[in-house]
Amino acid sequence: MLLFLDSANLTEIRTALAWGVLAGVTTNPTLVAREGRRDFENFVRELSALVPGPVNAEVTAGDADGMVRQGRELAALGANVVVKLPCTWEGLAACRRLAEAGVPTNVTLVFSVNQGLLAARAGAAYVSPFVGRLDDAGHDGLQLVRDLVRLYNQHGIATKVLAASLRHPRHVTEAALAGAHIGTMPFDTLRQLVRHPLTDAGLERFMADWRQLNS
Ligand code: E4P
Repeated sequence: MLLFLDSANLTEIRTALAWGVLAGVTTNPTLVAREGRRDFENFVRELSALVPGPVNAEVTAGDADGMVRQGRELAALGANVVVKLPCTWEGLAACRRLAEAGVPTNVTLVFSVNQGLLAARAGAAYVSPFVGRLDDAGHDGLQLVRDLVRLYNQHGIATKVLAASLRHPRHVTEAALAGAHIGTMPFDTLRQLVRHPLTDAGLERFMADWRQLNS
């Protein structure tokens, strides 16, 4: 499973890139608003230049024509831009049209297997099941990831499962073991992945022994 950062914060993205594990970035209108970036086009251009992998930027139009227009504009900002579209009939129609124009798409806000099937049949390159939000609503978000991986394998579908709304390290572990192609997570979740008390204790011991040898 590739690791993406779910963030519109350039400092976080630069830090994660320097860690050497980051394969791409997802954003959404909430994350962009949180950073106060009104210059959305410049922001996407900046992100596209900074990140060597896919950069996901979401449309905000409500109808398919508007989404296609926005999608084409976003895609023109960088060769690695992936256009995020909501899982609605308008979003799916836009997905089909953008896919036929060669623009990679990510159908987002996916909460059911049927939505994942529709996204794939509309030509989505990626589908984003929202694990944490399903958990919040009392469902099993990770089960949807497992089901989508199975569904796509069973039917030879090339759409990639991008497990989204991963809120803690256990989500990441389970999504990876379920066979998700990509997991996207906030900076704090990514930061936690490296932590283990035995690593800290082991390192402390190594350093103490080393200091003693050299004292
Ligand atoms: C993914 O593309 C979404 O931006 C994201 O994972 C949503 O996460 P949240 O449910 O924690 O807001």
